Amino acid sequence: MEYTFEKKYELTKKAFDNSYSKYSKFKVGALLILKNGEFIIGTNVENASFGLTNCAERSALFAAYSQGYRQDDILELVIMADSDKLTYPCGACRQVIMELMNHDAVVTLINLDKKTLTMKVSDLMPGYFGEEYLNV
Ligand code: THU
Repeated sequence: MEYTFEKKYELTKKAFDNSYSKYSKFKVGALLILKNGEFIIGTNVENASFGLTNCAERSALFAAYSQGYRQDDILELVIMADSDKLTYPCGACRQVIMELMNHDAVVTLINLDKKTLTMKVSDLMPGYFGEEYLNV
């Protein structure tokens, strides 16, 4: 499959539409494009115990890892929300993205009006806390 902007928009919108955000009413969709041509979507899943909410980015990445994919398999993460100011991943998601994606992989933000911004994973978090700090 060729991942044109329109295709990315359409697939990420599916995740966005699936959002379970009954408390915040803030829908977020995430799309992971894999090097093998496949894709995985994730959405934000909220809970009456608010702290248990899972963001769209982490839903997609955890799904990918659950299916056996790893950093080197992932080309791009696309994030969609309905905000004029483009929605960046939250701090918790940035930490997870830094661990689970290659730092030269692409992150694309999109809003419903098709405003978009592209960056590298490495742009999301300078001074990242990673495995090199741990005795593993
Ligand atoms: N949210 C995401 O899914 N991703 C982000 O990057 C920002 C925030 C969700 C969490 C919660 O369900 C809602 O947006 C409002 O914070």
